[in-house]
This record gives sequence, C-alpha cells and structure tokens, in this order.
Amino acid sequence: MKKLPLYKKLPVFGVVAFLFLGFAITITVAAPLMDKELYQPSPQAKPLDALASKGREIYAREGCWYCHTQTVRTIANDKKWGPRASQPGDFAYSNPALLGSERTGPDLTYVGDRWPDENWQIKHLQDPRALNPDSVMPSFAHLPQADLQALAHYLVSLKDNTAPDLQKRADQSTEADIPDVYKKAVNPFAGDTAAIAAGDAIFHKSCWSCHGATAEGNGPAASALKPPPANLRKSALTRSEQFLFWIVSEGSKSTAMPAWKKAGLTEEQRWQVVSYIKSLGGQQ
Ligand code: HEC
Ligand code: HEC
Repeated sequence: MKKLPLYKKLPVFGVVAFLFLGFAITITVAAPLMDKELYQPSPQAKPLDALASKGREIYAREGCWYCHTQTVRTIANDKKWGPRASQPGDFAYSNPALLGSERTGPDLTYVGDRWPDENWQIKHLQDPRALNPDSVMPSFAHLPQADLQALAHYLVSLKDNTAPDLQKRADQSTEADIPDVYKKAVNPFAGDTAAIAAGDAIFHKSCWSCHGATAEGNGPAASALKPPPANLRKSALTRSEQFLFWIVSEGSKSTAMPAWKKAGLTEEQRWQVVSYIKSLGGQQ
C-alpha cells in the first residue's frame, strides 16, 4: 500500500489536531484562568467611582485606545511612562483592560500624575492644539459636556497609587510645610548661567501653557484653571529654592500643578527650572 503523508490520513490528522488545540487552550486560557494570584488586585489597583467608570466606557467607545496604550512595559524605553512596569493585578478593576497596541499619543497609565486637573483635561480634549501646537490628536469638542467631564475624571484617576503622598496645596503652604527630604535638598547649580538657560528652555516647553511665557500665571490654559497658575516672578522673591523644588517635584494638591518628578523631568532638570525661576526674582 502506498504510504500516505499524515495530513492525508483524515482520522489521524483530526485526532492530532484536536489534541494540539486542547493543549494550546489549556496552557494559554485554562491554566491562567485557574491561577487566582493573577486576579489579586495589586497595591496600584483602585476601584473606579461611578463617574470614572462612565469615563472609561466613553474612552472605549470613542476609540481613544487606537492611539493610546495603558500599559508600561519592562523595557528601558518605557521608563518615561511611569515609575514601574504594569503587572496583571494593576488591571483587577479594569475589565476588559484597555491596553491598546499603538502609541500615536503617549501611554496613559499614569496620565493623572502628568495632568492632574479635570479642567485642563477638558480643555485639552476640546482643543489639543491650543495647549500643544504640534499635536495630531483629534478634537473631541463635539462630545456633550457630561461626557467630557466623565472622561476627564477618568483620566485624572489614572495615577500612581503606591508612592508616598508628599503633596500639599502650594498656595496655602509656608516654608515650615516643606517635607524633610526636600528641606535638606541643595541646588547643585546655584547661580550657574548654563543651568538657568537650560531651565529657561524647560520652562518654555513644559510650563508656559499654564504659567505663561513671562511666568506671571497667564498662559493659554490659565483661564480654565481654578485655582489659577501662580505668578512665578512673585514666587521667585518669596519662596526658598527648597520650597520651589518641593512643589515642582511633587505638584500642588488638588490643583492643575503636576508633580514633575512623575511627569517626566529628572532631578537635574527640576533644579535647572528652579534656578530659572529664581533668576526671575528682581526682574519684575
Ligand atoms: C489619532 C490619534 C489619537 C486619538 C484618537 C486620541 N489621541 Fe490623545 N493624544 C494623541 C497625541 C498625538 C497626543 C500627544 C499630543 C498632545 O498632548 O495633544 C495625545 C495626548 C493625549 C493626552 C495627554 C497625554 C500626555 O501625557 O501629555 C491625553 C490625556 C489624551 N491624549 C487623551 C485622549 C482621549 C481621552 C482620547 C479619546 C477621547 C484620545 N486621547 C484620542 C493622539 C490621539
Ligand atoms: C497644567 C497647568 C500647570 C503647568 C503645566 C505647570 N504649572 Fe505650576 N502651577 C499651576 C497651578 C494651578 C499652580 C497654583 C497651585 C496653588 O495655588 O497651590 C502652580 C504653582 C506652581 C508653583 C508654586 C508657586 C508658589 O509660590 O506657591 C511653582 C514653583 C510652579 N507652579 C512651577 C511650575 C514649573 C517649573 C512648571 C513646569 C516644569 C509648572 N509649574 C507647570 C499649574 C501648572
């Protein structure tokens, strides 16, 4: 009898194919389903409130995930998107997880640390180019105000829940409120003109949209913000370098002022921008 290749022996082929499929489903679907540990919420996971859940639905409906991911990978290139790589337990309360696969825009896992203010978020959703002239993000100004509010509330909830909270309201704080770790910090660049120039560049990239090109608190986002951005020419005269470094690093609680430690400025860059602010003192 002529020897047939395996794929021509239908019954044998069927059994082999079935076993293979069963094996594949067992290791990729059934085994993870039974691994309870994968479903334990991590310290990062926080249940969403009703408004944030609604925002999440709108995020899925509007296809924000075509352009945005919500997962920080373990590779070095992803370090800029957050303090730590995402773990299965981070998604315990977000089902299905909106991981996304393309990054036309930034990863949003920790976007609430970068832009903590809902009014800023709404303004950005309505007119991305008003706050970021090079943006290719479409405007969502056609959405009803209630949808924009829910989206903004959801976006602000996406933040690091594991770091110690060293935040206070800047406006209501004095030198005595500076946390110990910042009280002892020393500006490595004091008086250095190259550092001031570097701080000037950082300011006009990351701070001007709120604080304004002249640092007096009147950037294009300012009218949407409550409390308004501070007049940093005044702060240059009234605040110590340690106070400025603390607020620039940790942000100001319940205001639009981001924690730049988490929003993408290195310690060196934060000191440079503090040096720049200090250099504005006396130039009123
Ligand atoms: C066509 C691609 C695209 C779509 C769709 C899109 N975005 Fe964006 N998004 C971008 C790009 C590019 C940027 C970076 C420029 C900017 O800040 O506007 C961005 C920036 C952002 C930022 C600021 C992120 C940061 O870290 O600075 C947020 C928040 C945001 N998008 C939310 C959304 C939401 C919510 C939706 C859906 C309603 C959405 N985006 C839909 C492309 C997109
Ligand atoms: C999204 C808007 C926004 C951006 C961007 C922003 N800030 Fe602010 N900033 C604010 C707001 C609002 C306040 C007022 C907070 C308060 O009243 O407690 C503030 C307060 C401050 C203060 C405290 C001033 C004081 O004397 O109390 C400093 C310092 C500061 N910002 C520096 C910066 C620097 C440096 C950058 C850029 C790296 C920056 N800010 C970017 C909104 C912003």
